[in-house]
Amino acid sequence: MKNKLLERYDRGVPRYTSYPTAPHFDDAVGPADYAHWLSALPPGATLSAYLHIPFCDSMCWFCGCHTKIVARHAPVADYLDVLLREISLVGDALGSPRPLGHLHFGGGSPTMLTPVEVARAVEALGRSFTMQDDTEFALEIDPRDADRAMIRAWAWAGATRASLGVQDFTPEVQRAVNRVQSYKATAQVVEWLRATSVQQINIDLMYGLPYQTTKGVERTVRKVITLAPDRLALFGYAHVPWMKRHQRLIPDEALPGAVERLRQSQAAAALLLDAGYVRIGLDHFARPEDSLARAQSAGTLRRNFQGYTTDSAMALIGFGASAIGDLPQGYVQNIVPIKAYSEAIRGGHFAVARGRHLSSDDRVRRAVIQRLMCDMAVDLAAVGADFGLAPDTFDKELASLGPLVRDGLVAVEGTRLHVTAQGRPLVRAVCALFDRYLVTQRARHSRAV
Ligand SMILES: C[S@@+](CC[C@H](N)C(=O)[O-])C[C@H]1O[C@@H](n2cnc3c(N)ncnc32)[C@H](O)[C@@H]1O
Ligand code: SF4
Repeated sequence: MKNKLLERYDRGVPRYTSYPTAPHFDDAVGPADYAHWLSALPPGATLSAYLHIPFCDSMCWFCGCHTKIVARHAPVADYLDVLLREISLVGDALGSPRPLGHLHFGGGSPTMLTPVEVARAVEALGRSFTMQDDTEFALEIDPRDADRAMIRAWAWAGATRASLGVQDFTPEVQRAVNRVQSYKATAQVVEWLRATSVQQINIDLMYGLPYQTTKGVERTVRKVITLAPDRLALFGYAHVPWMKRHQRLIPDEALPGAVERLRQSQAAAALLLDAGYVRIGLDHFARPEDSLARAQSAGTLRRNFQGYTTDSAMALIGFGASAIGDLPQGYVQNIVPIKAYSEAIRGGHFAVARGRHLSSDDRVRRAVIQRLMCDMAVDLAAVGADFGLAPDTFDKELASLGPLVRDGLVAVEGTRLHVTAQGRPLVRAVCALFDRYLVTQRARHSRAV
């Protein structure tokens, strides 16, 4: 891509893991709405659950997640008690146990839980949800925390997939982000996982980190390929020091610029494609036989708060501080500070701080953005028709695509548009044209590439 195109379109845009995006949630949705929305879920419908464990033992300076550094285990143990209480509150609102499609433990680092705590959490979930033969049970692992006993505990609890944070193996980059993690220790964790029933392995990589170079990214990707993960995520570092104060520890001048970021992501992608991985959406890769690649071919790929997913459950129930739920009526987000979240739950109340009741306009725009993020293409008239809308509903947006079409980033045929290979890194900027909230209220976001 030419530098001038990057300059033109590499603006702050959301990652579109939801629409409307989280900065546009507000307090018009609260605990009473959530109770009502949960009780309205049809009894036989498959649900999914996300449990947030907001603790780590040291801070990676690039981190954009909701997490807290703890030196002792007591706060984690206290939090787990509260989380179990929230599971039981949700169970009461649901009324009867529901089939579970996907279960995801994220963070922070779920590997901060002890084996006994893992067993307690899964046992508590078992009272409100029924595991199916094909329930996908995933957890995020900080390989620096993991040991064999802990991995056995997760396997014993039913885990089937693990996502390991790697980012970059270059020592200079690791020191600059306060995350020193060897290839050897990472490979050991993969070996321990493969010796259990946790057979599906994902690896997270990043580009755009301080002092990162294309050569270093390539070295990291080559090493990671030897671990033969089923899926990879390749995230562009989102530098948002106005939101995440610890990111100020990363010197601005050490950050690669837009052109170098693009080069790094393209170099990583080329190696992964060459190794037989299929590109999924904006920033994921999977083996062709992996369910994510199959969902992409079938047009059933979805995007949620964890990234790209095969999850087709009617609702995603979020548990824990800052966790977001996605229900048929709209989104809910729990209180972010752990103390205030815990007080609400200990008081016997849901801890919903904010949310968004979906309007019909939100739903149709969400469908357009979801298809663009997943398929790099969308037929606007077909999506509109699903919602009973006229074929010209998006004429204004189609017209606003003009500059992107002239720059070769998007191709339009009638009401069908597709993002070209050149435009793919900028797909979020294409989605932004359909984002009614972004057009009217500009929140600050990370760069597009
Ligand atoms: C919750 S962490 C994964 C589990 C574990 N805490 C770890 O880091 O190993 C989720 C992933 O988000 C990505 N990530 C974190 N902060 C980011 C940022 N500012 N920009 C882009 N990706 C980020 C990293 O790739 C990280 O592995
Ligand atoms: S271990 Fe993961 S969640 Fe924790 S600070 Fe590092 S990137 Fe963030």
